Amino acid sequence: MHPFILLTLLLPAHGFAPLVTAFFALYDGADASPTIKAKPDMILVHGAFHQPSCYVKVVALLKAAHYTDISVPDLPSVGNLVDRRPDIEAVRRTLLHRLDQGRDVVLVGNSYGATVISEAVKGLKHPPRGRILALVFISGYLPTINEVLHPETKSDIKTVVPSNFRIADCSTKIYSNGDNANFPPSKAFYNLLPPFEAALWSKQLDYSSYAALNATATYIPYTGDFRCVYIVGKQDNSVPPEWAKTWYQQSGAKMEVLIEDFDHVPMLSRPVELTKILRRIAGETLT
Ligand SMILES: *[C@@H]1O[C@H](CO)[C@@H](O)[C@H](O)[C@H]1NC(C)=O
Repeated sequence: MHPFILLTLLLPAHGFAPLVTAFFALYDGADASPTIKAKPDMILVHGAFHQPSCYVKVVALLKAAHYTDISVPDLPSVGNLVDRRPDIEAVRRTLLHRLDQGRDVVLVGNSYGATVISEAVKGLKHPPRGRILALVFISGYLPTINEVLHPETKSDIKTVVPSNFRIADCSTKIYSNGDNANFPPSKAFYNLLPPFEAALWSKQLDYSSYAALNATATYIPYTGDFRCVYIVGKQDNSVPPEWAKTWYQQSGAKMEVLIEDFDHVPMLSRPVELTKILRRIAGETLT
């Protein structure tokens, strides 16, 4: 079943419907102040193991704030044995289409999705039409500058994966349920969600293709070509703050850094706060 349908079926049973309505009400009111410019397009990219549905709350909030063009591409590397290229293509196709229409775009990537948006903007610093306003890395798992300059030094992902990553089927798939006793998804990804909701989202996780996660990047967008914002989650157990530093404190890296009371998937646990941040990055002045 498509995750969105599943979610629609499950949400009322769990009493989320009033919550979503409340978000809308809150945000319609908050948006009464005049805005300076037209809202840019948003492209929201999920991470490994996840589905586009993890953005359902943020999409609702952005729509309520009058963002009309929001794309949430489905990365083929979740649940399919493909390398990273189809993921990048999925994002780039949408991006080029929007730019071609003269639209301004903000790209958002969670975890591995940060790697995908980084590669998708290659060569697009000065597009003929439209502009890329920012890349936002939410708990981004990013390629390093060194990996691009010296690809031969990049280590196989199996040497750096956390204990919840389970490599299966002759190193073709990676699951996130490798340590359910000590480090289940409810701890790795959803530690700020109520347990019943963490259980609901954990059930939707699928494998990610090893080849996609292990691929080597060919471009770094965060050394000056683009405005890049890195959002660190103080309570992120998958990319903890200390690990995030190894990316944003690299010599030559130019990123704005926001340190928030977030876990690894704040789209689900802190959607109101996260949406406010995205709207500010998109150019809104919010109190
Ligand atoms: C993973 O990537 C490394 C290079 O970064 C490569 O040497 C290795 O063969 C890859 N592993 C698999 C299973 O493809």
